[in-house]
Amino acid sequence: MNSLRIVARRFGGPEVLETVEEEAPEPGGGEVRVRVLAAGVSFADLLMREGIHPEKTTLPFTPGWDIVGIVDKTGEGTLQATVGQMVAALPIHGGYAQHICLSESELTPVPAGLDPAEAVSLVLNYVTAHQMMHRLAHASAGQRALIHGAAGGVGTALLQLGRLAGLEMYGTASLADQQIVLDLGATPIDYQKSDFVEEIHHLTGEGVDIVFDGVGEANVWRSFQALKPGGRVIAYGFTSFLQKGQLAGGLRHRLRGILRPAWYALRALLSPGRRRIVPYSIQYLKRWRPAWFREDLSALLDLLRDKTIRPMIAARIPLKEARHAQELIGGGSVRGKLVLVCNAD
Ligand SMILES: NC(=O)c1ccc[n+]([C@@H]2O[C@H](COP(=O)([O-])OP(=O)(O)OC[C@H]3O[C@@H](n4cnc5c(N)ncnc54)[C@H](OP(=O)(O)O)[C@@H]3O)[C@@H](O)[C@H]2O)c1
Repeated sequence: MNSLRIVARRFGGPEVLETVEEEAPEPGGGEVRVRVLAAGVSFADLLMREGIHPEKTTLPFTPGWDIVGIVDKTGEGTLQATVGQMVAALPIHGGYAQHICLSESELTPVPAGLDPAEAVSLVLNYVTAHQMMHRLAHASAGQRALIHGAAGGVGTALLQLGRLAGLEMYGTASLADQQIVLDLGATPIDYQKSDFVEEIHHLTGEGVDIVFDGVGEANVWRSFQALKPGGRVIAYGFTSFLQKGQLAGGLRHRLRGILRPAWYALRALLSPGRRRIVPYSIQYLKRWRPAWFREDLSALLDLLRDKTIRPMIAARIPLKEARHAQELIGGGSVRGKLVLVCNAD
């Protein structure tokens, strides 16, 4: 059986992505083969394509952090997976494909009847939002939170989960995205026209309990200044590497992405007011606490089934147009989750 897959043989811009057609992979011992229905396209895919993501990538590779699909073959020694079961996984790479083989332990069952595109939105964005909010920040009702990139994939997830948790929320977004932030229950701040640190102190007086910062770099230190005593910045991304639709690449940025957050976290420890900067990485937490990942994703899938949360789908794009999908993310024009449709039915 033939199967399509997107491959990058070298690091670089969207042009390095090519479509290959080959024999579908066979599952090894303890593995299952998943017929991918929906694969997420994320900013992390771009960082990996450029070779500047802290997660090591060896060439050639197939991008794709998050998938939802149907188990279509089981390898020897699999215990629970059944052919026909819908599952979700976070393989980190390999998702842009019609078929992927994964260890059975990587799978989380998806309740029947869910839209694969909505379900895949939970795997990276909502698990990230949920774990930052509840596992790291231990957010509680009545606390104040500032969410950067509030109209983005993780930002909209944070707003929906923050509303459920009873947080008082503020969200930075460009002028065009202010309505999305308002509709999701937060006070929008136009970070391009005003200083968000001043704005937060003007609106709250003493500052916020939590800042979720996916922008990175110098923004993290400014987020720290928006905290009230005892507050936390959860630092989790590098959106600032994107400048006018171009990713700043090279070893210098790869090192900066790792060293700067560490330096800020140390500087925060030495500052008065018991304020902290805490880094978050979904892949490191998943390796450390795999049971948390499965538990959190299952709980979020139940919220989706019960229609308590409603992911924003930016677009559904055919697998063969993966390059175009990454160009859209690189252009900064995507609102919510961009999804590749890998098998049409
Ligand atoms: N650590 C982890 O485990 C983890 C997991 C998931 C994602 N991430 C990272 O988190 C970041 C966000 O991911 P995403 O999927 O939500 O990206 P996204 O959907 O592209 O959203 C990013 C948002 O940031 C906004 N933005 C850009 N520059 C900004 C600035 N200076 N201040 C405030 N907002 C700004 C953009 O909206 P406007 O046009 O309104 O400015 C956009 O909505 C990425 O760096 C990603 O790699 C990390």
